[in-house]
Amino acid sequence: MNTETAANTVTTKTTGMTINTETIKKRISVRTYEEKKIPEQVMQQVREYLEQDDNPFGVPITFSILNTEKDGVSSPVIVGADTYVAGKYQKQKNAEIAFGYSFEKLVLYATSLGLGTVWLAATIDRKAFEKAINLGEKEVMPAVTPLGYAAQKRSIRENLMRKGMKSDHRLPVEELFFEGDFQHPLREENAGKWTGPLELVRLAPSATNKQPWRAVTEEGRVHFYEAKTKGYDRESTGDIQKVDLGIALCHFDIAAKEAGLGGRFIQSDPGIAAPENTEYIATYELEK
Ligand SMILES: Cc1cc2nc3c(=O)[nH]c(=O)nc-3n(C[C@H](O)[C@H](O)[C@H](O)COP(=O)(O)O)c2cc1C
Repeated sequence: MNTETAANTVTTKTTGMTINTETIKKRISVRTYEEKKIPEQVMQQVREYLEQDDNPFGVPITFSILNTEKDGVSSPVIVGADTYVAGKYQKQKNAEIAFGYSFEKLVLYATSLGLGTVWLAATIDRKAFEKAINLGEKEVMPAVTPLGYAAQKRSIRENLMRKGMKSDHRLPVEELFFEGDFQHPLREENAGKWTGPLELVRLAPSATNKQPWRAVTEEGRVHFYEAKTKGYDRESTGDIQKVDLGIALCHFDIAAKEAGLGGRFIQSDPGIAAPENTEYIATYELEK
C-alpha cells in the first residue's frame, strides 16, 4: 500500500490528509449535489491521490476524471454533479477485490476533502462511461462515482432509493460474523481486538446494500467470505459482490492499523465448512 503507518493513522504520502475510522463513519452516499464548482486546488489533490492509490492485491487500477459535458457521461440518479471518477482493471485474479479496496480508498480520501461520493455500478449510462475511458476488450469498469458538494436537501428519488434499500441500516453482527466456524455467531465478549475493525466492515457500502461480507474469527486470524446473491456477477461489471468484499477489507485494514494490530492479508483457505454460495476470499493474519 502506498500509505505510511505513522503512529496509529494512515496518512497519504502526497497530501498528508488522513483517512481514518472517523472518515469511514462520516462517509454516506450522496446523489444530490450543489451546483458548486470544485476548486482547482482540491481537484489537484484528487489527481495526486489517484496516482498513488493502490491495494494489497497488487492489481493496478486505472482511474479517469470525467466531465459530464466534455465526455458525455451521466447517471439518472445524480443531480447537480458535473465531475465523475471512473476506474478500470485488466481481467485477472483478485481484480474485483483489488478494485473495491482501491476505489473505496479514493471514496474515503474524497470524503476527507469534504466531497460527496456514491459508488455507481448499475444506474449509469455505462456505454458512455466505457467509451469515455477507452475501455479495452480485456478490461472491466465495475463502477464510477460523482464528486461534488452534497446539497442541503436530497432529491425525492434519492430519499426513495435510501428507503427502498434500507441504506441507513446494516445486518446484525450475529448474521455476519462467527467464531471458529459458521455454526457459532460471534459473541460480543469474545470479539476482543476484532470488535473495532469488524464494526467498520459493517459500515461499508455495498451494491443495493446487500452486505455480502461474512467473517470467521480465530485468535490471530480473521477469514473473510463472500455470501453471493444471484445476478450480481455480470460480464459488464465483473462480480460486483467481490468488489463489496474489497471495500470491506479496506475498512478492516484501516481500523486494524489504527488499533495498531499489525497484520496483513493472505489467501489460504482454512477449509472451514461454509454455507451454500459462500466463497472464501482472504484472511487477515496478525504477524507472529
Ligand atoms: C459496488 C457498489 C455499487 C453500487 N451501485 C449503485 C448504483 O448503481 N446506483 C446507486 O444509486 N447506488 C449504488 N450503490 C450505493 C449503495 O446503494 C449504497 O452504498 C448502500 O445503499 C448503502 O448506503 P450508504 O452508502 O449511504 O451507506 C452502490 C454501492 C456499491 C458498493
